[in-house]
Amino acid sequence: MIKFSSKMMFDKGSALVLLTSEQAKAGKFVCSSKDVALRVNDVLKSECFEGGKGEVLPLIIGKCCVVLLGLGKEKELNMTVLRGLVRRALMAPYFKKAADIEIQAHQDSLEVIRALIEAKVIGTYSWKKYISRKKDDKTIENKTLHIVTAGSQECPETVLVAECVNLARDLVNENADVVTAEYLEKTVLGLVKGRIDVETEILGRKKLEEKKFGLLLAVNKGSSQAPRVVIVRYNGGKKGESYTAIVGKGLTFDSGGLNLKPSGSIETMRSDMSGAAAVIGALKATLQLKLKKNIIFAFGATENAIDANAYKPGDVFVGYSGKSVEIGNTDAEGRLVLADVIAYVIDKYKPARLVDLATLTGACVVALGHDYAGLMSNNDVWADAVTASAAATDDRTWRLPLYPELKDMIKSKIADVKNISNQRGSAGTLTAAAFLQQFVGETPWAHLDIAGTAFVDGDSRMYYGHGATGFGVRLLVDMIKKS
Ligand code: BES
Ligand code: MN
Ligand code: ZN
Repeated sequence: MIKFSSKMMFDKGSALVLLTSEQAKAGKFVCSSKDVALRVNDVLKSECFEGGKGEVLPLIIGKCCVVLLGLGKEKELNMTVLRGLVRRALMAPYFKKAADIEIQAHQDSLEVIRALIEAKVIGTYSWKKYISRKKDDKTIENKTLHIVTAGSQECPETVLVAECVNLARDLVNENADVVTAEYLEKTVLGLVKGRIDVETEILGRKKLEEKKFGLLLAVNKGSSQAPRVVIVRYNGGKKGESYTAIVGKGLTFDSGGLNLKPSGSIETMRSDMSGAAAVIGALKATLQLKLKKNIIFAFGATENAIDANAYKPGDVFVGYSGKSVEIGNTDAEGRLVLADVIAYVIDKYKPARLVDLATLTGACVVALGHDYAGLMSNNDVWADAVTASAAATDDRTWRLPLYPELKDMIKSKIADVKNISNQRGSAGTLTAAAFLQQFVGETPWAHLDIAGTAFVDGDSRMYYGHGATGFGVRLLVDMIKKS
């Protein structure tokens, strides 16, 4: 939990994190407890603590614990680094016994307060559901962080959005056998229950067959879990105002299909519904904040599994758009699901612009690593808007080119288009986007390849621990607000 207080409540038994830049070190620390003020000012004056970036000095003063956290030069401090430093300080063992923790920043700006909130809510999140060793409810996640700030800098909205990031992470981290297409549908129905500002359209197997979602159904063939397309039309804006559509890839598990993924690649594939999870996180935030915009939230959900009915390489399927697709590789399944959902959303809901989020290609991880999502678009204005929201929220993106020649690489001899490139190993992220583009038409569209950013495997990075990051939720909420 996060609470805002206008002054320090510091008392015996509590703990305090004091952010100390090199400039702040020269200043004087004031506090209601004489003992604490005396000790802290002694330390600030001394040479043993310089306030350098990442420097940490814990002081035990009576029953109180004060941690000085060095930030280095204020001018050089970026907010991503700040989140990481604060996260690390909060997770330190000396806070175990403290009931609550207070934190005072070096600077009372909105940017800094937001970083503190995200360091706590996003930074200290971890997935522990299946760890049986004694449940420890004294972990930092369950403690309240009191942020000392003048009233004007309180931002409950940042807290709320960060909690929606964690909802997306829970959906990704939970077992693939739990988070099925049906489970995702139920999650959405739970969120929209009782709301009069939404209309929901759920397509199960029967309706998908009627409407000829042949590509999504091909991917689903080898799975015993029924597929779903879930669409929520949120009418928060004025009547007649245009809609922005958000579409997520919801592969609840991607085995690769008959082109089975090898060991080393398959273990994290329950995260292949991270696009859908981001859509659900953004939906929850939009509903809670009652944003005054018109938005279509949509995702296609299925497993890419194998049984005797599994779809086969070399076969051709026709999707909702009427275009036929040759299956060059059953592991290029995400673009098939998205093609049907995007074509349908554009045809039926006629959004003015569309953004999709998909853990689409391993090639994107090779190109950009884990800290930037790939952004591809057919429209510079729309791409710039998405980029601006990315920069404002630390869900970072980097634009990659989309150009007409790419579609020559996905030509088929037996169908309108092929789901993999004929030039293996070349620009796999771009050819995947070029495939999607064939189903988009003229609608301004931005595609986010989040294969690298959605999941941290092993070592923590930025301010995330192991597991899902909830990438895209913050970006989407910012984009919706500005749309
Ligand atoms: N879900 C994967 C992409 C992925 C890879 C996500 C690593 C997260 C981490 C996607 O469905 C896939 O398998 N893509 C193939 C495409 C290829 C067969 C053209 C890939 O990237 O290898
Ligand atoms: Mn795949
Ligand atoms: Zn996939």
